[in-house]
Amino acid sequence: MGSGLWHMLHVTNASDYGVSLQILRSVVLSLMPISSQFDLDGPVTGSVSIWSPHFFWLGMPMLINSMSNTEEKREKMSNATWNVFNGEISESKLLCQFGRPLLLLDIQSLSRNCGTWRTVDGMHYDGAVYEAAVHIILNALLIESHQKL
Ligand SMILES: *[C@@H]1O[C@H](CO)[C@@H](O)[C@H](O)[C@H]1NC(C)=O
Ligand SMILES: *[C@@H]1O[C@H](CO)[C@@H](O)[C@H](O)[C@H]1NC(C)=O
Repeated sequence: MGSGLWHMLHVTNASDYGVSLQILRSVVLSLMPISSQFDLDGPVTGSVSIWSPHFFWLGMPMLINSMSNTEEKREKMSNATWNVFNGEISESKLLCQFGRPLLLLDIQSLSRNCGTWRTVDGMHYDGAVYEAAVHIILNALLIESHQKL
């Protein structure tokens, strides 16, 4: 899952984005097993298997304002707006940390490390960025499956 840039350009209301993230969070949480159900005395033994879906959040890429291909994008998708929207994501407590539901795929960090030659318009990045994100997903699933063995 992931959203942000589209909302930034077409809806242009960070509070509204925050409200949507809250709704998303409650939907995602409703799909997770309730940890307190498994909060038994002593270790869980036998054949109890705790199936839990894995959710990933596709972070927003770094925006290079000067490369934007329309005036509207240059205006609405500024670094300042990016920071406000990203702040809404932090505040939503969606991202995985202390039991939060989604693991962040930090596209900002990946795209920043790529530099400007990996994007034609300052927001759509080369496939290599997203391939790296796929590797992060696979590693996360691998780590998780080993932890359950
Ligand atoms: C922005 O979204 C918030 C929350 O949904 C809403 O209360 C507010 O009226 C919206 N602002 C504008 C300018 O549409
Ligand atoms: C964008 O904002 C971030 C965080 O505030 C800052 O570190 C970065 O230097 C800014 N980038 C530009 C191009 O202004």
